[in-house]
Amino acid sequence: MLIPPPVTLSPTSRKLMDATIGQTAFETTPQSNGAPDATTLFAPIRPGLRQVEAKLRNVDSALFAPLADAFINLIGSGGKRLRPALALLTAEVNGALQDPLRYNAVIALAAAVEMLHTATLVHDDVIDGALLRRGAPTLNAQWNGISTVLAGNYLFGTAARFSAETQSMRVIEIFSDTLRIIVDGELRQLKDRYNFAQDRENYYQRIFAKTASLFCAATQGAAILARLPETRVDDLYQFGYNFGVAFQIVDDILDFTGDDATLGKPAGSDLRQGTLTLPFFHYLQQHPDAASVIEMLEAAQAAADDGDSAVWDATVTTLVYELRASAAIEAAREEARTFLHRAVDNLAALPDNVFRHSLQGLCEFVVKRTY
Ligand code: IPE
Ligand code: IPE
Ligand code: MG
Ligand code: MG
Repeated sequence: MLIPPPVTLSPTSRKLMDATIGQTAFETTPQSNGAPDATTLFAPIRPGLRQVEAKLRNVDSALFAPLADAFINLIGSGGKRLRPALALLTAEVNGALQDPLRYNAVIALAAAVEMLHTATLVHDDVIDGALLRRGAPTLNAQWNGISTVLAGNYLFGTAARFSAETQSMRVIEIFSDTLRIIVDGELRQLKDRYNFAQDRENYYQRIFAKTASLFCAATQGAAILARLPETRVDDLYQFGYNFGVAFQIVDDILDFTGDDATLGKPAGSDLRQGTLTLPFFHYLQQHPDAASVIEMLEAAQAAADDGDSAVWDATVTTLVYELRASAAIEAAREEARTFLHRAVDNLAALPDNVFRHSLQGLCEFVVKRTY
């Protein structure tokens, strides 16, 4: 069977889903570590976010039923809704949601970036073989790989449709370029797997492509639709870049320090899958004999290639343990903070209002987040 049945929603779960519309992570409880909580930061744009939520969940009634159920599940599975929030906050800095002509375009852009994000996650989980996302089984845990990729393609198509609804050729171009850049980034990451000789520049190139580029599209696109002057559009592109790079660095730290339950996705999998991230580069830099660490990893990987994966598993387990106890985590976090300081600086010339304050607060949220 092309698509096995378990994704089909029961009438009860569908009712539950309907009842929780709008209650995504942006309306959940605050974190307990002193970080500003997303609920408060998103408050100034809550009506816009609800509108985006409704747009995202508007499934085509004629859609092939299993695909419709998968779509509802994916969109309804939560998520922090950070990218649409950034788009709405950016647009609102210049009052764009108060203008009925621009309102629909901004909502469409915010929905487009979240839909594109969801599509990339569907494909990313196939690539990573991840079985858990947002605390629930991934689509690829239930469907075969080919069907899952096709479902991801459907989401990409929906995202493209939303971007067209902005009726801004420039935003549509940005959106299309972003999709191309993300695919390029995921392929670079695949090629670099188990390449222990790669330098840090590869890492930065990859995380711009697979993650920061979409944040850039959200903030730059919103700045364009909000008719901010070109210099501010450039600032907001830079903000998206610095924010997005920091966001991925923190995600990569959490992969070492977090646990599955809090993250809602498998922790500790990057290094195990041969994906080298910033904490690892800092670990190597601080290690008295980095060459021996690389030799050990290469030998373990060669053994795994010859069918003995136990050595690889043991090597990674030891390394993750040592890395967590080392100064590498704090060094990587310090780098994320540097990017976030730059992001705050990128906002300096914008009108000083509640929306800008939320954008600044999100910079603090990102570095302190635990999920
Ligand atoms: C996860 O993004 C993918 C990365 C770019 C690291 P998020 O952490 O924003 O995912 P959700 O939408 O909140 O689940
Ligand atoms: C982000 O990288 C993936 C995409 C941009 C699609 P990760 O692979 O680190 O994201 P998670 O950890 O699976 O959410
Ligand atoms: Mg992944
Ligand atoms: Mg990750």
